[in-house]
Parts: sequence; C-alpha cells; structure tokens
Amino acid sequence: METEVLRVLASDSENCAAVRRAGALIRAGRLVAFPTETVYGLGANGFDRVACARIYEAKGRPSDNPLILHVAGRAMVEEAAAGIPPMAEKLMAAFMPGPLTLILPRKPLVPDRITGGLDTVGIRAPEHPVARALIRAAGVPIAAPSANRSGRPSPTTASSVLRDMEGRIPLILDGGTCRVGIESTIVDCTGAVATILRPGAITREMLTEVLGGCNLDPALVGAKTVPRAPGMKYRHYAPKADMTLYCGAPAKMAAAFRREVRRLLKEGRKPGVLASHETCSGVAGLLPESRVRDYGAQGDLSAIASHIYEGLIAFDATDADVLLAEGVAEGGLGLAIMNRLRKASGGRVRELA
Ligand code: TXA
Ligand code: MG
Repeated sequence: METEVLRVLASDSENCAAVRRAGALIRAGRLVAFPTETVYGLGANGFDRVACARIYEAKGRPSDNPLILHVAGRAMVEEAAAGIPPMAEKLMAAFMPGPLTLILPRKPLVPDRITGGLDTVGIRAPEHPVARALIRAAGVPIAAPSANRSGRPSPTTASSVLRDMEGRIPLILDGGTCRVGIESTIVDCTGAVATILRPGAITREMLTEVLGGCNLDPALVGAKTVPRAPGMKYRHYAPKADMTLYCGAPAKMAAAFRREVRRLLKEGRKPGVLASHETCSGVAGLLPESRVRDYGAQGDLSAIASHIYEGLIAFDATDADVLLAEGVAEGGLGLAIMNRLRKASGGRVRELA
C-alpha cells in the first residue's frame, strides 16, 4: 500500500480537501495518521471493530492494550460514556479540549476491541485544529493510539510517522510539529478520588487545584504494582541503543557528562547525549554534532518535553551505540518528562553524588 502524506495548515483545516478525504477514509474503515497537540495519532472509526483491529496490526500492538477515543465535544463524550462523574465534569470544564484523557465508565456500544475488555473507556478531546476538523469530518469518535510501531518513541512530526508507518496506512495528515511533544495526561475518574495513570502536560498540580486532591497510580512512583493503564507496563518510548538516565543537581551535569563521555570513548564506544543546552555545551568537541541533542535550557520544561521523542528517534539514524540522557526535577511537567525518560532507559538510572 502506498502511504500518501498531505500537508494541512491549521488555519485552513475546516475547509480542506485533505481533511475531507481523511474523514471519508475513516468512515470507510481505513486508518489515517493525524496531528494532535501532544503527538501524532493513528486513527480509525471508534465504533468499527474491524477498523480498530487494523490499528493493532499496523502498530504491532499487544491486543490487551486499550485505545482511547478522540471526540469533538461533549455530545460525543456522552455517546461513549455511561456516565460523567462530578470530578470529570470539573476536569472537562477546566481542560477540555486539551492534552487530557479521562477514564470513564463505558457504554456497551463501545467495542471490546477498543477497551481491551475493560468496563471503562478513555476519552480525549484534542485541541489541535486539524484533529478537531478530522473528527468532525468523520462524524464519529476516532480511536487513536500514538502513531508509532509498538515499543518505539511516539512521533511528533509527520516524517517520524512515515518512518514507522510507510506502506502500512493509506494517509498521513501533516500538520507540522506537535506543540506538547509527549502524550496526554490520563486521569481515572471512576473511583472516589481522581488518579493519574499517565502524567502529561496537565500536571498533578493543575489537577489538584481544580479537584482539591489527586492521586498518582503507585506504579508510577516505583511501587511494584501493575500499572492501571495497561500500556504503561510495556518498555516503551525506547531508542535502539541502550540509554542511561542521569539524575542530580543541574549544576553537576556538565562535568559528569564530560567524565562519562571520556570514559566511554576510551572503551571504544560511540556515545550519544540527550541533554540540556548547558550540558551539551560541556561535551561539545568530544563528540560529532549528530550525536549531541540539545533538548532545551535547564529548567525549560515545555521545551524539554517537546524535544525528547524527536531526540530519541534521531539517534537511531546515527552510529551511537550507547546513550546518556539528563534528567530533570520531578515537579510540574518534570514528572511526565521523567516518566518517559525512565521508560526509554529501561530502568538504567544513575544518581549523581
Ligand atoms: O496524547 C495522547 O494521548 C495520544 C494522542 C494520539 O491522543 N494517544 C496516546 O494513545 O498516547 P496510546 O494508545 O499510545 O496510549 C493510551 C494509553 C495506553 O497506555 C492505554 O493502556 C491507556 O491509555 N488506556 C486506554 N484506555 C484505558 C482504560 N480504559 N483504562 C486504563 N488505561 C487505558
Ligand atoms: Mg503510545
């Protein structure tokens, strides 16, 4: 199958022939990759079991891992959710549309293929104009995981989607680079207290301010329990070369990275570095530029979040055989950044003394 890539301007998305075509493909049971403000999604008609099965095939995704439904507004939430608890009402008022997925009780109409057999469903209203126009053009909720092959970093550009999905899907809508750069915050609204199952750009602090309180799935903070978002149990977001994540005071990073890079070079390795501007300056001259990825200034968490996946993906096109990444403090958006970097490192984390 040939994969077509069509550029869509955000300003033109409502009236655009490419979006109309994509909507028709979705209604016909086919797959379309599309931009959201978080990462690119791989979409299918959320009420079509057979179309959703195609998503699992194209991604190579384990079938017990449920999909989230992307909706254009409240009416579509009500089509899929059996009820909207008061905490979900508050979160919808504060953060929808936006980078937030709510876990709600599901209606029987939602196929088991989507929910992995759970009695809940994940629902998100993206704010990206192209995503919104596509959902409206399709006229149905769109089931969409991130548009990567299973286990690979989520794509934040159309060219990264193409690398993973070429020949597997008919169409990619290219809406440029995703603003947030990491997947939505997932909040389970089916219990007594809201619980974050996957941290994202809607932070724990923001949720607490609206709800008065908010738990974290214990599996996110090191407890040996099974994560309640099934997808969080897989090694994920991983580049091809093994990566070690360095944590500690920002002021110590540059010297520590210089030391580690020198040691690895002596062993004949080809290190790559994903780190702050400050730390990258510290290793400049030791490594070829292609193996040094500056993810933003220390403390600029939105810049860092938006650069980590493209950074990880870029190393796969180099000869790097070992990666070093710089961690951040875990407050605010830092929690989500560290969640993704920990997973990409497969648990290889070093605390700087
Ligand atoms: O930002 C995002 O959320 C992106 C864009 C495309 O919208 N989508 C995305 O989808 O990240 P995906 O499939 O890669 O991740 C969805 C996560 C998975 O970890 C899945 O296990 C979890 O949501 N999930 C889905 N339905 C669930 C449910 N009913 N209960 C608990 N977790 C659920
Ligand atoms: Mg994913």
